[in-house]
Amino acid sequence: MTLQLSLATGAPESIDTPCIIVGVYTTGVLSEAAESIDAASKGAIKRRIDGGDITGKVGTVHSLYDLDGVKAERVMVVGLGVKAEFNASRFQQACLAAGKAVSGLSVDRAASWLSALDVPGKDAAWRVRTAALAFDHAAYRYTATFEAGAESKDTKLKSLALAGEGQDAALAQAEGMAEGVRFARHLGNMPPNICVPAWLAEQATEFANAHDGVDVEVLEREQMEELGMHSLLAVARGSANAPRLIVLKWNGGKDGDKPYAFVGKGVTFDAGGLNIKPTGSMEEMKFDMCGAAGVLGGFVAAVKMKLPVNLVCVVPSVENMTDGNSYRPSDVLNTMSGKTVEVLNTDAEGRLILCDALTYTQRFEPQVIIDAATLTGACVIALGSHATGLMSKHDDLADELLAAGENTLDRAWRLPLWDDYQKMLESAFADFANIGGRPAGAITAGCFLSRFTEGQRWAHLDIAGTAWESGRKGLASGRPVSLLAQWLIDRCQ
Ligand code: BES
Ligand code: MN
Ligand code: ZN
Repeated sequence: MTLQLSLATGAPESIDTPCIIVGVYTTGVLSEAAESIDAASKGAIKRRIDGGDITGKVGTVHSLYDLDGVKAERVMVVGLGVKAEFNASRFQQACLAAGKAVSGLSVDRAASWLSALDVPGKDAAWRVRTAALAFDHAAYRYTATFEAGAESKDTKLKSLALAGEGQDAALAQAEGMAEGVRFARHLGNMPPNICVPAWLAEQATEFANAHDGVDVEVLEREQMEELGMHSLLAVARGSANAPRLIVLKWNGGKDGDKPYAFVGKGVTFDAGGLNIKPTGSMEEMKFDMCGAAGVLGGFVAAVKMKLPVNLVCVVPSVENMTDGNSYRPSDVLNTMSGKTVEVLNTDAEGRLILCDALTYTQRFEPQVIIDAATLTGACVIALGSHATGLMSKHDDLADELLAAGENTLDRAWRLPLWDDYQKMLESAFADFANIGGRPAGAITAGCFLSRFTEGQRWAHLDIAGTAWESGRKGLASGRPVSLLAQWLIDRCQ
């Protein structure tokens, strides 16, 4: 469940809540809300600053209890850093830190005045939306697969009031986006013995059945065979878990409006196939369906926000395993487009399922196609975990997506798709190969996909570094749901 969000107004010292959250900068500079609480409590905050407990450093959190003149049971003071350096990203960091702290307390509700802070270049709607999403992100807990009675793993925090008069529209948007983010994180985090292609299809179907205006269609092996999706099916052949192609449609726009299309890589586990991955981090390849989760989350957000657009979401889903029936390096595959591909590495499977999905998507005559995929380790090396790799031949579309990423702090960075890179895919035995070699690995993967989107307005998001936090306790991040949702919102202006 997402946090129950509401708006709060009035004097912070007179809000009846177990926890009120205010910010302070370094060197004893108080925010307006901290100033009011300090005045009402006859200097309780300033005394703690003078005592050295409250430093104002970014991300620090300090709680004061039972202050005279303050109605809240506790005041949570969050560090904002140097005032002159305060910006959008610091604002989000402060909200995340406060969210982490308050969701670990034994309180069921809280009120945050961080959304009343001045953020250069940002309006009140942005502050409310960004705060809401950050708090909801911090309050998310993965609880699905613990022993019964593990409710203790969950947060007690159920609702949050945010300072922001009249920001109902921003709040409603934030709620829709937060639902999409949670949807994506849940799918991403589920273990691959449960989250198999058929399970992903069930999640999409359940969502469709619960929402008016949403249609779903799930294609199975036989239908994909008839369509000629031999590339997707080749990847699926080594797995006991049968593939699915999931198609969701949201009819929020006018009849006849060309749809936007999202396509997401749904490899529910990527063992590498016969080019098996080494021991070490194979377990993280349960997250190889995060492109699927991301576009499904973007779809959920669009539906929850009731955006006036037509949207289709296409998710090819398979498991990439080793088996006597696995596809092999040197196999030549017939893609749905008619182009043939020489498999030089069975671990470059994402592009082999996406190519058929991209071809299939064109039957909906989309005005734009955006795909999201945990496609290459090379993208992680290039950009790390902060930026998603963005590739497109359309400068205007790329700029739109970069702007949506910047706005939501779900950032992307563009890599080139120049034709010069295409020759790295040459093959002696097929129209081209599925890998280009180690250099520019993220780009040659993008080049491969570009051969299946000719004539389309298309962009590719490589989320290999951003879709989850690496490490044994790392969770799915929900990226790029906010980027996609914001991009759609911007299309509606
Ligand atoms: N799912 C992986 C990409 C990946 C690796 C994402 C590590 C996140 C972290 C993808 O299917 C893959 O294995 N790609 C290969 C491509 C190579 C064989 C050309 C890679 O990146 O090593
Ligand atoms: Mn792989
Ligand atoms: Zn993969």
